[in-house]
Amino acid sequence: MMAEKIKVLIADDIEATRENIGKLMEFHPEITAIAEAATAEEAIEKAKSVRPDIILMDINMPGMDGITATELISAELPGSAIIIMSVQGEQEYLRRAMLAGAKNYLVKPFTGDELVQAIKQVYANEQKRRKVSVLPKPPMQGKIITVFSTKGGIGKTTIATNLAVALADQAGVKVGIVDADLQFGDVSLFLNLLPQATIADLVRDIDNLDPALIASYLTPYNDNVAVLPAPFRPEQADTISGSHLAAILKTMRTMFDYVIVDTAPMFNDAMLAILDASDQILVISSMDLPTIKNVKLCLEIMESLNYQSDKVKVVLNRADSVGGMEPTEAEESLHCTFTATLPSDGKTVVGSVNRGIPFVVSSPDTDVSQAVFSLAKTVTSGEWKKKQQPLGVVGKLKRLFG
Ligand SMILES: Nc1ncnc2c1ncn2[C@@H]1O[C@H](COP(=O)(O)OP(=O)(O)OP(=O)(O)O)[C@@H](O)[C@H]1O
Ligand SMILES: [Mg+2]
Repeated sequence: MMAEKIKVLIADDIEATRENIGKLMEFHPEITAIAEAATAEEAIEKAKSVRPDIILMDINMPGMDGITATELISAELPGSAIIIMSVQGEQEYLRRAMLAGAKNYLVKPFTGDELVQAIKQVYANEQKRRKVSVLPKPPMQGKIITVFSTKGGIGKTTIATNLAVALADQAGVKVGIVDADLQFGDVSLFLNLLPQATIADLVRDIDNLDPALIASYLTPYNDNVAVLPAPFRPEQADTISGSHLAAILKTMRTMFDYVIVDTAPMFNDAMLAILDASDQILVISSMDLPTIKNVKLCLEIMESLNYQSDKVKVVLNRADSVGGMEPTEAEESLHCTFTATLPSDGKTVVGSVNRGIPFVVSSPDTDVSQAVFSLAKTVTSGEWKKKQQPLGVVGKLKRLFG
């Protein structure tokens, strides 16, 4: 097979020069002059349309000079390498041309051999450089953040969806949401999406699992957030196993910076697989005693699963709901510091669900949105508050937990 020809654009204001260079090239079948330009402006325009491998650029042209054109072309068309042509005595110009991105230079008058050698050398260097830059990148290692609680109706889906959208907006990162509340998942509802396919469809095709397959089952929310929806019908939940979920999460972390997993309030095989795969588990608590008792139990189970204490964090939701307990009392009882505290704000939160718009979008200035933004910041900075030493026990809770 014949190798591809090196395509050259000649930019020089003197017609005779362009002709001479063209003639020199005729003796070299591996090089072809595909276009000519008499001004820098014309060179830029033609470079954009013909995409030459090499541009021979005269420094001194009427109007824009060759150095400015070199700067513009190197920024916009990295596939076109520029060789500067100058007459003797323009040393300072040459230095500037190289700084502007020129790859080599020729001093007029030059011989055919000098010209061909310069073109071939720059071309070969560019090919080498391109090969290096298209080496496969190591796959993305996104973080899996699971929102969990042992109790229903506590705010998991509210926090999972708003955190996902806040992360994407704030940090400009790609976020995937997996609705692993396999029986009654409502992430799509919270985001006002009408999915065409769900995780149950993906699992039917699990033998062919790869990023492209997963992508075909995702429902986009916006450019940066996409959802893998829960099955349409509760009975389909049984078709999805822990190992399916582990495989899906492992692949999804190569596609997204963050994968947020919304869950059902239970400890089963599927849930354990998710918790194991997670980098971070956000256990959602509220301030009523039954919930705190459950959260405490949940933290004990996670400890028995040998999760590092840094992996499990507690988020307090509806912090100021009535009941007479202070957040610090809840922290003391749980022997932890809340990573985030979301106030109760029924008007904003329920209103946002009913409209299918996350409150971080519809009401970014409210305290509850600000709390989610600050949680998102903690996630991206990785600066989670350290677990606190036990602080002693509040009387009310002492009775409960001994
Ligand atoms: N901070 C808050 N202030 C006021 N209402 C809230 C707050 N957080 C959640 N809610 C409301 O509580 C209800 C339950 O929230 P959500 O559906 O997020 O909980 P969940 O833990 O996902 O529940 P389930 O276990 O059923 O999936 C919703 O109506 C939601 O609007
Ligand atoms: Mg939910």
